[in-house]
Amino acid sequence: MKRLEGKVVVVTGGAQGLGKEMCELFMEEGAKIVYSVDLRKGDYTGENVRHIELNVTKTDEIQSFVQSVKEEMGQIDVLVNNAGITKDALIQKMDEESWDRVIDINLKGVFNITKAVAPIMMENGKGSIINISSIVGLNGNVGQTNYAATKAGVIGMTYTWAKEFTRKGAAVRTNAIAPGFIETDMMKTIPEKVLQPLRDQTPLKRLGKPREIANAALFLASEESSFVNGHVLSVNGGLRL
Ligand SMILES: NC(=O)c1ccc[n+]([C@@H]2O[C@H](COP(=O)([O-])OP(=O)(O)OC[C@H]3O[C@@H](n4cnc5c(N)ncnc54)[C@H](O)[C@@H]3O)[C@@H](O)[C@H]2O)c1
Repeated sequence: MKRLEGKVVVVTGGAQGLGKEMCELFMEEGAKIVYSVDLRKGDYTGENVRHIELNVTKTDEIQSFVQSVKEEMGQIDVLVNNAGITKDALIQKMDEESWDRVIDINLKGVFNITKAVAPIMMENGKGSIINISSIVGLNGNVGQTNYAATKAGVIGMTYTWAKEFTRKGAAVRTNAIAPGFIETDMMKTIPEKVLQPLRDQTPLKRLGKPREIANAALFLASEESSFVNGHVLSVNGGLRL
């Protein structure tokens, strides 16, 4: 039996990078349907994937997308809050627009879609919500005041939802993944002179691969993690910033 047989899954930011890897793995693992919610369509297809072009910051549009999934599928089993951006600068140089945009997508986007999805999961008595945080949310990082605030913020939301969504006896679990530095387009903005010391400081001496984050998400999405709730899973090769 595949690990996500029959599950209805929503992944934000599924067009590329970690989100794409998760969608592809979830499709392989037998999900009934995987919705990739992204600003643009991903370049991959399959009978059990649908690309939804949506901005997670648009509250009303997110609400109507989630309602349409409820009407069509009757359930949402897994939500991965993965869409995220960086807009780095030292705080002295960080303009208000950079602060607002990162907060809007990385925090409000997570709030918007979870607010719409969680009641459906609670009504069905089960579900798994996975928030993609970052090592930066745990340890901080120079030039990432806005990003660190959001990634620490989603950990706070994770702990809150682990309590809030289980209040009426539903097995709706909320966990977070805190990736270290993973080889995706997001990393292309980081110069090699910064990347090499990161590899050197990592006990495993390399950056992570998208599949290594997707595997962690698969564990948290599947029944194998049925007693894991309110946990932040670090997947970083042992790096401490
Ligand atoms: N790559 C890393 O090393 C790393 C490390 C720690 C955490 N993360 C986190 O993992 C997540 C994915 O990162 P990635 O490296 O795959 O990034 P990425 O930039 O490759 O992909 C992010 C995706 O999110 C989508 N997106 C951006 N804004 C959106 C919006 N408003 N609405 C809908 N979709 C939107 C983009 O179109 C893109 O497809 C992010 O939350 C990131 O903060 C990444």
